[in-house]
Amino acid sequence: MEIARRMQRIPPYLFADLDRRRAALKARGMDVINIAVGDPDLPTPDHIIEALVRAARDPATHVYPPYAGTRAFREAVAGWYARRFGVTLDPEREVLTLIGSKEGLAHIPWVFVNPGDVALVSDPGYPVYATATLMADGEPYPVPLVRERAWVPDVSAIPESVARRAKVFFLNYPNNPTAGVADLALFGEVVEFARRWNILVVHDNTYSEIAYDGYRPPSFLQAPGARQVGIELHSLSKTFCMTGWRLGFVVGNGDAVAALASLKTNIDSGQFSAIQAAGVAALTGPQEPVRERVTHWQARRDTVVSGLRALGLDVPLPRATFYLWVPIPAGFTSMKFAEHLLEKAGIAVAPGIGYGQRGEGYIRISLTAPDERFAEAIRRLREHLGATVSRAAR
Ligand SMILES: Cc1ncc(COP(=O)(O)O)c(C=O)c1O
Repeated sequence: MEIARRMQRIPPYLFADLDRRRAALKARGMDVINIAVGDPDLPTPDHIIEALVRAARDPATHVYPPYAGTRAFREAVAGWYARRFGVTLDPEREVLTLIGSKEGLAHIPWVFVNPGDVALVSDPGYPVYATATLMADGEPYPVPLVRERAWVPDVSAIPESVARRAKVFFLNYPNNPTAGVADLALFGEVVEFARRWNILVVHDNTYSEIAYDGYRPPSFLQAPGARQVGIELHSLSKTFCMTGWRLGFVVGNGDAVAALASLKTNIDSGQFSAIQAAGVAALTGPQEPVRERVTHWQARRDTVVSGLRALGLDVPLPRATFYLWVPIPAGFTSMKFAEHLLEKAGIAVAPGIGYGQRGEGYIRISLTAPDERFAEAIRRLREHLGATVSRAAR
């Protein structure tokens, strides 16, 4: 058996070794606290589960779903966009159901990137933007996100020679892993840039509803002219605690949406209609469960950030996402620090290097473990690492 060369382009999965060690420590009986993965610990709201059960009992859902998604789901998406962002969408032309937003993101370069073309990807960033580009024989160009610029790109610093070759600009705000947020002024700059260089903007708005202290993240489509140059992806995964359900959607530029839909007809046959019916319940039903979950994460954010700060770690308070992007003590690489935490304290975190070269010097902590696990994590950190951290912080 020969594995295609394409597969060799995918960079080594940097978390693989840590995952193996975590599994080995667990197998040896260590109680490992996993705060590495962004998977909500709170359950899917009940009314959504009820909607799935009802729909699953209807034989009409047992057949192949429509490729582009059920009409009801696409209308629910359009209604949610109108209420949440004041953006009007044509459910027929401007909305497409995805099997999770990752599925859409992974397929986008196949549709818009020719071999040798550039895709602009955030560094650090969600790794799929770069790996999907590589799979399509494209070249990911890392656009730096740095703390001094509050984790938003300096669009004017992208070299002309790169902009000329770029076909897609992946953006993601609220941002994974940095928890940075963007405003409409940034989106406006991106629209101008995309117009000038004829680039498709792909905005990943997966975390738009996970925001704190009254902050409401915008949609890229609220920026004037955005629909001419861009699409936006969303997911029910984080907002409604539905990561396992695999339901997301893409909206925006009708031609881009149609092109992606056309590729997808050759790859998948849509998402189970009953899951889309549950998605309708999520988007059109009571939003109180979302607010309750966010309130819960906000309280956890406050407790964990204070706990980590008391240990001498310089942890910024995120306005959105459930991630803490934590600078590591001097003398460690992010991988070494993650290994240290795993082996000394039984705590699994994500090393920043896994998100790109500029992720070095950071670890990502996900606030998606139960409160008592965080209390235990802080206790262990105090016991095992207090000295290391405060010494290095001095
Ligand atoms: C920035 C970002 N985009 C997309 C996804 C994928 O979400 P899903 O495929 O569950 O919709 C994730 C998941 O962690 C993410 O962090």
